[in-house]
Amino acid sequence: MSKAVALAGVRHAYTEAGTGRRVEALAGLDLNVAAGELVAIVGPSGCGKTTILHLVAGLLKPDAGSVTCGGAPVDGIGTDRVLVFQDGALFPWLTVAENVSFGPRARGEGTGRTAELLAALGLDGAADRYPKELSGGMRQRVALARALAVDPAVLLLDEPFGALDALSRERLQDVLEAAWLRDRKTMLLVTHSVEEAVRLADRVIVVSPRPAAVRADVRVDAPRPRDVTALGEIRRTIAQMVRTPE
Ligand SMILES: Nc1ncnc2c1ncn2[C@@H]1O[C@H](COP(=O)(O)OP(=O)(O)O)[C@@H](O)[C@H]1O
Ligand SMILES: [Mg+2]
Repeated sequence: MSKAVALAGVRHAYTEAGTGRRVEALAGLDLNVAAGELVAIVGPSGCGKTTILHLVAGLLKPDAGSVTCGGAPVDGIGTDRVLVFQDGALFPWLTVAENVSFGPRARGEGTGRTAELLAALGLDGAADRYPKELSGGMRQRVALARALAVDPAVLLLDEPFGALDALSRERLQDVLEAAWLRDRKTMLLVTHSVEEAVRLADRVIVVSPRPAAVRADVRVDAPRPRDVTALGEIRRTIAQMVRTPE
């Protein structure tokens, strides 16, 4: 099993602005993700989930321990790892098609797979619209398409559907699953929804309250597309762990 992402003994502390106090976010976190795996990370708010993604993205450096991607140490951001934010963080001055083709154009590859991705994500009718003209669900589709257009080895998703209503959220989960089934990219999905985690992930990593450590690593062995109502027991077990500190 090749390791697409590996964190070993990773520690990270922030210095709180104002007080100068050290806030330990991760205190020796170990996590391995195989190539092509879709792994969800769940845990209480403030436990360190975003920090994990930012370390893998290369936006933060660990104080101790190692973070590797495809066996190579992570050293700054790179096109092999792309992060999708909760609010999409689209370029407001660019159209949908221009947002999606941003990565390939920056690399001198023309528009790359933009047309194909717009069609696959149900965006072809919106190609010439601007982000402000779109619903939240459409904006997140664009954010996903823009990330996939870069063709990264690893896709990092930080509560990508957290701000959406239930129906848009379910539609986007289907879109994400279809993209994963098609490309089999390694995906790390941070979510506060246990239901979303068991619906989409091969494995659900339950992280303890800050400082984050892996509390449980739960394999979800159910055929796709999944019926979450049939996964009630595993959902309850995970939700219980997220709610209770130990
Ligand atoms: N820039 C920062 N300065 C100080 N503390 C921070 C900073 N960013 C995050 N933290 C703290 O680190 C902890 C982990 O944050 P984060 O990774 O964003 O958690 P999560 O994504 O699980 O909600 C939180 O308790 C948060 O308050
Ligand atoms: Mg977060």
